[in-house]
Amino acid sequence: MRISDQPIAAKLAALGVELSPGVAMTEKTSLGIGGTTDLLVLRKFETIPEIMRLLAADGIPHRFLGGGSNVLIDDGELSWVALHLPTSKPGMSIEGNTATVDAAADLGGMVTFCAKNDLGGMEGLIGVPGSVGGALRMNAGAYGTQIGPFVKEVQLYRAASGQIEFLRGDDIRFDYRHTSFAPDDLMLRVKLELPSIPFKEILAGIKICNEKRRSSQPLNQKSAGCIFKNPPGRSTGRMIDELQLKGHHVGDATVSDRHANFFVNAGSARCADMLALIDDVREKVHAAHGIELETEVIIWKN
Ligand code: EPU
Repeated sequence: MRISDQPIAAKLAALGVELSPGVAMTEKTSLGIGGTTDLLVLRKFETIPEIMRLLAADGIPHRFLGGGSNVLIDDGELSWVALHLPTSKPGMSIEGNTATVDAAADLGGMVTFCAKNDLGGMEGLIGVPGSVGGALRMNAGAYGTQIGPFVKEVQLYRAASGQIEFLRGDDIRFDYRHTSFAPDDLMLRVKLELPSIPFKEILAGIKICNEKRRSSQPLNQKSAGCIFKNPPGRSTGRMIDELQLKGHHVGDATVSDRHANFFVNAGSARCADMLALIDDVREKVHAAHGIELETEVIIWKN
């Protein structure tokens, strides 16, 4: 979608929005898949409510794009604009055992920053790609650690009220790869309460997690991490592997040879290829196990 109306573009600019026309989502997602749309970088938190009112009044649909590491975006010209927070120099600070971090910060960068200040507990999250905001929204986790339990407070824009609000960690539900945030909530900043641990000890934990990840996941290929959630008590990767589907593909959308719950873009896969592969594998797992797999990746169709 293109914002071609000059008065609207001028109003957005006055509200601190930096508009990049016709951005290929292949460049903004870890899967390297997605069509084209205008990208609006929201430079000032305080103007977000007004920006949202302007977009609504002018009938411009939008989606919040974070780190792009857990999203599968449709092909072609997209019917919505992508809203994005500035990623250069995101704010990160420490006071006592509390870290305050902008949602646009890189998740791994935040774990490292806290570690250098002798605040740990999040070692398992070190290799999880994406932004802090994305990790909050889905309660990202790995190696027995999830971000949710560390959350003390979240500052967010809530579409339901049209306001910037603060939520206490205790008032947010964090479940396995799921939270009580609304789909149109935009994470802005988070306060995390972290245990004091000497840097050296945290570093040792980080190294172990990095090694485990390197040995089992296709880190050098384009993916969105695990494509499906694990059903209770089961490993989706193992189920797909046991059906001998590693290497199975639709076009360039391919089940990874390394970890069967990672579907990689092995060249120039399109969203349609990835969706067809997802449906096919879901049907095969259902036929073999009677289990309906739920995608972990967020799918944005036009
Ligand atoms: N397995 C296979 N074949 C495969 C993949 C896995 O046999 O192709 C077996 C493994 O050998 C192991 C078991 O399945 O015995 C579980 O595998 P793994 O330890 O890799 O964990 P997972 O359940 O597949 C989950 C998360 C990952 C996270 C790892 C480590 C989900 C959907 N996946 O994977 O998270 O990194 O544990 O904690 O919860 C993600 O969410 O995107 C993600 C990558």
